[in-house]
Amino acid sequence: MFWLMFLLHVVLARSASPKSLPVVKPGCRPKCGDINIPFPFGIGHGCFREGFGLSCQQNATDGSYKLLSGDFEVLDIMLASHQVRMNNPISWQFLNKTTGNFTESKWEMNFTSTPFTISHVHNKFIAIGCGILAYTSMTDYKDDSYITSCASVCFKAESSVNSTCSGIGCCETPIPPGIKYYNIWFDHVNFINVWRFVGSLRSAALVEAGNFKFNTSSVNDDDSWNTRNRQVPIMMNWFISHETCKSAQRNKTNYACVSSNSVCINNQNGSGYICNCSRGYRGNPYLAEGCQDINECEDSSICLGAICMNTPGGYRCSCPPGTTRPIDGEGCYADVITGHKMPIGITIVIGAGAGAALLILVLAILVLIRGLKVRRNKKLKQMFFKQNHGLLLQRLISSTEDTAGRMKIFSLEELDKATNKFDQARILGCGGHGTVYKGILSDLRVVAIKKSKIIKQSEIDQFINEVVILSQINHRNVVKLFGCCLEAEVPLLVNEFISNGTLSDHLHVQGRNSLPWKDRLRIALETARAISYLHSAASISVFHRDIKCSNILLDDCLTAKLSDFGASRSVQIDQTGITTIIQGTYGYLDPEYYQTGRLTEKSDVYSFGVILAELLTREKPYSICMSSESGSLIARFITVVRENCLLDILDPQVVEEGPREQLEEVAVLTERCLRLRGEERSGMKEVEVRLEVISSSTRDFEHPSLQRSLSLLDQKSS
Ligand SMILES: *[C@@H]1O[C@H](CO)[C@@H](O)[C@H](O)[C@H]1NC(C)=O
Ligand SMILES: *[C@@H]1O[C@H](CO)[C@@H](O)[C@H](O)[C@H]1NC(C)=O
Ligand SMILES: *[C@@H]1O[C@H](CO)[C@@H](O)[C@H](O)[C@H]1NC(C)=O
Repeated sequence: MFWLMFLLHVVLARSASPKSLPVVKPGCRPKCGDINIPFPFGIGHGCFREGFGLSCQQNATDGSYKLLSGDFEVLDIMLASHQVRMNNPISWQFLNKTTGNFTESKWEMNFTSTPFTISHVHNKFIAIGCGILAYTSMTDYKDDSYITSCASVCFKAESSVNSTCSGIGCCETPIPPGIKYYNIWFDHVNFINVWRFVGSLRSAALVEAGNFKFNTSSVNDDDSWNTRNRQVPIMMNWFISHETCKSAQRNKTNYACVSSNSVCINNQNGSGYICNCSRGYRGNPYLAEGCQDINECEDSSICLGAICMNTPGGYRCSCPPGTTRPIDGEGCYADVITGHKMPIGITIVIGAGAGAALLILVLAILVLIRGLKVRRNKKLKQMFFKQNHGLLLQRLISSTEDTAGRMKIFSLEELDKATNKFDQARILGCGGHGTVYKGILSDLRVVAIKKSKIIKQSEIDQFINEVVILSQINHRNVVKLFGCCLEAEVPLLVNEFISNGTLSDHLHVQGRNSLPWKDRLRIALETARAISYLHSAASISVFHRDIKCSNILLDDCLTAKLSDFGASRSVQIDQTGITTIIQGTYGYLDPEYYQTGRLTEKSDVYSFGVILAELLTREKPYSICMSSESGSLIARFITVVRENCLLDILDPQVVEEGPREQLEEVAVLTERCLRLRGEERSGMKEVEVRLEVISSSTRDFEHPSLQRSLSLLDQKSS
């Protein structure tokens, strides 16, 4: 055992040692002095991308280094934010008051044919002096010119206030985005015509505002800011070439995002693009193999006590075979019914991830324990069921009165007859929480009877949950509950029988006639109605928590019926967010809920957005564990909507059948449902109304009342 652990330790230590991330091209200089030089920047032939070449100079007297880009000194290179901090000489003008002569040093910055633009977020035009007008003329990437100016007047130098640049001794003004060239000139204002209020030195520059503090002594001629030839930091943004992502991707020879697992992003405020590592990766996207997987499992809290397994671009939380994560707690527990839940040594189990031998050992122990405990606890189990039945009945009776009329308690005999003694041939499928049989009741109604597979406390809880929630819901697009059976050892649920399979079957099973766009849109609308009803219209607010294509059933007329409420939560209307253990299906799971554990109605909105994306593309959403090179459906979908190239991803059949505006509107709505932050997503009611408007638009797109309600919605959401 000791040796096994030792071996595991060695294996884990080796595989967990972080690979050093490549930052520069092989054989190239990674630093100049203290400054890192990540590719695409570089020094020397073959070490940089065109436009990103730098040089490094060493001062012969003090041995210090200076990194230069053309004439400008580079202070810092930031790869993740795509910025460079440079030193920018200030422009100044000195007035000799006795001769009236000027000496001056006027600078311009010309980045026209470089990858750099001046950041309008970080920099300001700042001028210092008394009785001055400072002008700057700027040209942006489109070759449009701007002139802006600021004026500073002093009656006494002391009247200016430290660190506020407010027009007394110092003035500042913001600059437009995308600037590539500027120059500066001065004029003087002397309205009271008293020369002693006019300073003899005036200076100005574009300055990184966060790095600049005005000091009243600056207006005096010998201050450090005013010292001639002094430089101040300026923040530059940088981009790759002048192309968009799309055109750059067409000819891959010069395409910059060469790392696998990298993505291309267009410049919003100018031309060109940048590359980033995909989600779940970090490093340098401009180098082959530069983006490397993040080991999320280093954060020990990430799986709440279950085993964390790092996967490319993501991670997976799982429990060893024979154990499960409980719905209401942390860690892994053996699948044994006892009065107490039995945690197993998680640390040992982590080792088992790498050693199959240990797994077998754990399994053997579990089987042994199960054999012993199952026998000993058979009596205990029966007692539990009595308790559960009591609890169920109690909760039902305390809920609304009309429930009793709608719900029937079936006897086991009745259901035995209906399903021909639970004949294997009657099995319709295995849902998330049990097996479903087809049955015919004595009054010839066809029903679906759901039977929990394994007897586990958590599943009984879910069963009771489902009965309570379904009994209070009555909606055309939600599967009806006829009743339940409490006599059987395993709880049974009797639902309306829906004949035509799940939406997932219709969309994703090969060789099946695919759904026409008209039907897809209607199914989306009906599902939205059902969810919106659950959220707001029912007597209690219900979050479904497991909305996915395989939980949407279709009847003979392809009417959608929402099913499987095992994971649902009912909440008081005023409870806006409840913290729960994460439940749901990967691929449909709201990333915000996944991260914070806070369940809100927006989590259902996200899952619904995934369904909309599936309806539009007829592709399955990937689970987070299987991110492929091209990324998940959702990531790709959001990208194409934002880049306005929808046709790349839509199901060809949909493109053929659906009107263009309609598809675009649904896509935009989908993107709104899939926003990362819940608060930015549309509410379910809004989604429903929008779908309502979009579907009616096939008939009458220009109808004034529809236009009106659309614009009302726009106002509401903006
Ligand atoms: C100052 O200006 C005067 C004429 O305005 C000129 O004669 C003189 O040479 C100038 N002095 C210097 C130092 O440039
Ligand atoms: C800036 O530089 C470009 C070439 O690099 C040149 O064509 C342009 O005229 C320059 N602009 C100014 C205002 O000097
Ligand atoms: C792609 O770009 C390279 C260099 O920019 C060029 O030499 C090559 O001809 C281009 N290929 C195509 C197919 O356009």
